[in-house]
Amino acid sequence: MPDLITHTKQDENRQGETYAPFVNDPVAYGKKFYIESYGCAMNFSDSEIVASILNESGFGATRNYEEADLILINTCSIREKAEQTVRKRLSDLRTVKEEKPGALIGVLGCMAERLKSKLLEEEKLVDLVVGPDAYRTLPGLIEEAAEGQKAVNVLLSREETYADIAPIRLNSNGINAFVSIMRGCNNMCSFCVVPFTRGRERSRDADSIVKECQDLFNQGYREVTLLGQNVDSYYWSSGINGEHIVTFAELLERVALVNPLLRVRFSTSHPKDINDDVLYTIAKYENICKYIHLPVQSGSTRILQLMNRTYTREWYMAKVDRIMKIIPDCSISADIIAGFCTETEEDHQDTLSIMEYSKYDYAYMFFYSERPGTLAARRYKDDIPEDLKKRRLEEIINMQRKLSHESNMKDLGKTVKVLIEGDSKKSANDWMGRTSQYKVVVFPKGGHALNKGDYAMVTVTECTGGTLIGHIVE
Ligand code: 5AD
Ligand code: SF4
Repeated sequence: MPDLITHTKQDENRQGETYAPFVNDPVAYGKKFYIESYGCAMNFSDSEIVASILNESGFGATRNYEEADLILINTCSIREKAEQTVRKRLSDLRTVKEEKPGALIGVLGCMAERLKSKLLEEEKLVDLVVGPDAYRTLPGLIEEAAEGQKAVNVLLSREETYADIAPIRLNSNGINAFVSIMRGCNNMCSFCVVPFTRGRERSRDADSIVKECQDLFNQGYREVTLLGQNVDSYYWSSGINGEHIVTFAELLERVALVNPLLRVRFSTSHPKDINDDVLYTIAKYENICKYIHLPVQSGSTRILQLMNRTYTREWYMAKVDRIMKIIPDCSISADIIAGFCTETEEDHQDTLSIMEYSKYDYAYMFFYSERPGTLAARRYKDDIPEDLKKRRLEEIINMQRKLSHESNMKDLGKTVKVLIEGDSKKSANDWMGRTSQYKVVVFPKGGHALNKGDYAMVTVTECTGGTLIGHIVE
């Protein structure tokens, strides 16, 4: 059973273990690199920064790892399963070295940071180990590795945001792009390895973010997703005395003002930090999507306290009420963990009931996976047997199925504004796009002169699983 549950294939790109190879005229470059990304959207976004750094130092990309001089795997440590997947991939890739002894294999991202030189020295799986804040040193490290030296840089930084690097879009549909606005996390949720692998929180220069969004719009992109582990604590100050302060609400507004045709999304919000300013800004601009990813993790106040989430069940419910009051058409999604340390049947029922209360449109659901070095691993016993974790997770998944279905049923008969992302998977006669609320809509192209990146008004007539089906309003 996978420990990652998603609604659509597309969502798997957000948090699943997928890969994003691409081609950008390797002939023009002397050497070729191949990159695969696993884990969260931030990793996919980082791979686009890495691609830019490598291009600058003379590497062109290839989709085929067998012809690459450099193979990079951008890794995730969030759950044990994610690490197992990467280890298997790395050992499979060793065969490339037999065919092409000069090829280098590098591990980037959270596993590089967590395991440091272990993957290189003890397990001999890779030639290069580079943590998330050290990508600028890749060109030098590649040279060192090519000379047979140990090439490791896992230094974390308090400043690095890669603000000046123009990412090279990987595997892009030309419509949706990720824009990283901050890095790291200061929250220390007890289950989470991220503060250890990605370091302290720091925000990126607001002007560089707005410029990147403007450039994307000029290139034809129609949706940006502002990324950070905790976007609501975004904070940028400039001016001689730091007198110009940009909060997340202000940043959202500035990005929304780039162009009314550019949709703005963001992820992830921490319930303790998303405030009324942000909610009023979302309500004010039509192009800021009415969708908030608001991880709850558990519905039990006792478990939330052990998780160090700093809010109670009641506080979270009040936040949901506030969102629905200020943005009545907002959809909400959550991350949920089943079977955290000491979780009782009653705690689990609290999770099911908070899901019903919040009426989540989507949820990303996992069972607890103990991560070495985290607060929970040091303080609490991982004492819920695996079969019980799985049973609870299954109940959570079933609850979410019911809620998603109810949410979709409410859309029947409505006319929704859809940003067209491309052909539907099943038929080139149909378009696929999303509503502001992030719902997938499929509808016949008919005789309308529409293109990818255009908006269409669609009346919803049916729904199947996670998809709304409709037709263009004449
Ligand atoms: N076990 C299971 N799920 C986890 N997450 C983070 N750490 C763990 C863990 N140790 C989940 C949380 C988080 C999402 C990105 O991954 O729900 O919000
Ligand atoms: Fe991990 Fe919590 Fe930070 Fe999210 S907010 S990255 S769950 S520590």
